[in-house]
Amino acid sequence: MDAISLDKQARDILTLNDRGGYTVPTEGLYPYQWNWDSAFAAWGFASFDITRAWQELETLLSGQWPSGMVPHILFHADDPGYFPGPGVWGTEDIGPVRSSGISQPPVAASFAKAVHDRAPDQGLPHIRTLYPKLLKWHRWFMTWRLDQGMIFITHPWEAGRDNAPDWDAAMAAIDPVGVGEYTRRDTGHVDPSMRPTKADYDRYIWLVQRGKRLGWVDADMDRDPPFRVADPTITFILLRAHRDLGAIADLLGESRDEIDSWITTLEAGAENHRGPGGHFCGVNLLTSTHTGHLSSASFLNWYAGIDCDVMLKALDASFDTATYPVPSHAVTSQGFDGMRYWRGPTWAIMNTLIGRGLSDMGHDTHGERLRRQTAALIAEHGFAEYFHPLTGAPAGGGTFTWTAAIWLAWASPNAGDV
Ligand code: DGY
Repeated sequence: MDAISLDKQARDILTLNDRGGYTVPTEGLYPYQWNWDSAFAAWGFASFDITRAWQELETLLSGQWPSGMVPHILFHADDPGYFPGPGVWGTEDIGPVRSSGISQPPVAASFAKAVHDRAPDQGLPHIRTLYPKLLKWHRWFMTWRLDQGMIFITHPWEAGRDNAPDWDAAMAAIDPVGVGEYTRRDTGHVDPSMRPTKADYDRYIWLVQRGKRLGWVDADMDRDPPFRVADPTITFILLRAHRDLGAIADLLGESRDEIDSWITTLEAGAENHRGPGGHFCGVNLLTSTHTGHLSSASFLNWYAGIDCDVMLKALDASFDTATYPVPSHAVTSQGFDGMRYWRGPTWAIMNTLIGRGLSDMGHDTHGERLRRQTAALIAEHGFAEYFHPLTGAPAGGGTFTWTAAIWLAWASPNAGDV
C-alpha cells in the first residue's frame, strides 16, 4: 500500500477510536482513555486536526488528582469488556473523573510542546492552561517516585511495560495471598499467548487491592512497599519531559528554576540505571539489584538527552539480530518470546521515542534507519499494537491508536516531524 493510502488509513483509525474528547487505544481490548496512549494520539491528531489534538490532552489532564498524579486510565464511560474496571480500584472519592490509582510514563508535556510547535499561535492559550497541571504532575513524580535520582514504579502497569523481564524478580517475591477469584477480559479479545500470564495477573490485581486498602494515599503506599523498581522508561521519559516543560516555561515567561533542578537530579540519577555491562536497565530497589535486562526502554537515553557509546553498540547489535528492531527484550536473551507483549515484541511507539532521540542527538543515520524500518513494518503488517521482531507478525490489538498516531507524526514519508 502506498504512503498516501496509509496516511488515510491512520487518520481513519484515530477517527474510529475517537469517543468524543478522548481516544481509546483500540475497540474492545482497551475501551477507556489511557494516559500515554492519549498523548501519542494528540500528536497524531495534530497532523490533521489541531483543535482535536488539544482536546485530547485537556481531557487527559482533566482527570488529575489533587495530589498532582495523572491516572493511567480514565474511566469516562462504563464498559464491562475490561478488567479491572472502575469498580475494582476504589478511587471514586479521589479524582474528578473515575480512574485507576497509578500513573504512566509522562510523555504528555513533550507532545504538548510538539502540538504547540505545529501551530504556535493557536497553541499558546492551550499550553498556558496545561502548563501548571503538567508542572504539578511532574512535581508529583519528583516527590513520590524518586529514589537515588531514578524514578521507580509501584506497579508494572505504571511503566506501561506490563510483563517486561525487568519486573520478574520483584514480582516473584510477591505472594499474592488472598487475591481471590476474578475474570480476565483481555484474553477474550486477544490470544492468551500474546498476553501476560495468570501468575502476572494475580500479582497485578493483588497490588491494586493493596492500593485500594490504603486509599491510594502516597505516604501510606510508600511504607513497606512490596514492589519498588526503578524504571528506565519513566526516568528517561520524565527527564525529556522536564526539558520540554522547561522550554514551555521559557515560552510563557515562567521561572524554570524548579524544573532545572529536576533535570540536574535525573541526569545524575540516570547513571544509576547502568547495569554490569554499562547499559541501562531497571533496578529492584528492595534488593538493590540491577535487573541486567536490555529492553527497548534501555535505548531511551538519547530521547532523554544522554549520549552513550555502549548503547550505540548495543543498538547496532539489535539492528543485526532483529529484522524489525527494537525488540522489547533482546532476541538473543534468555526468555525472549517474540509474541508475548513486552517480552520480545517490537513496539512502534518505543521506536519513535528512540528514533527521535537518536536524530536529536546527531545520530541521524541510526535515527533514520529506525524510522524507515518502523515505516516498513507498519506498511507490511498494519497498525497493530505490537509486532514480532523477527517475522513482523502483528500481535495484540488491531487498528491501534498510537501506532496510527506515530505513523502520521513520524514514520510516514509525509510526516512533518515537530
Ligand atoms: C492492560 O490492561 O493490559 C493494561 O496494560 C493496564 O494498563
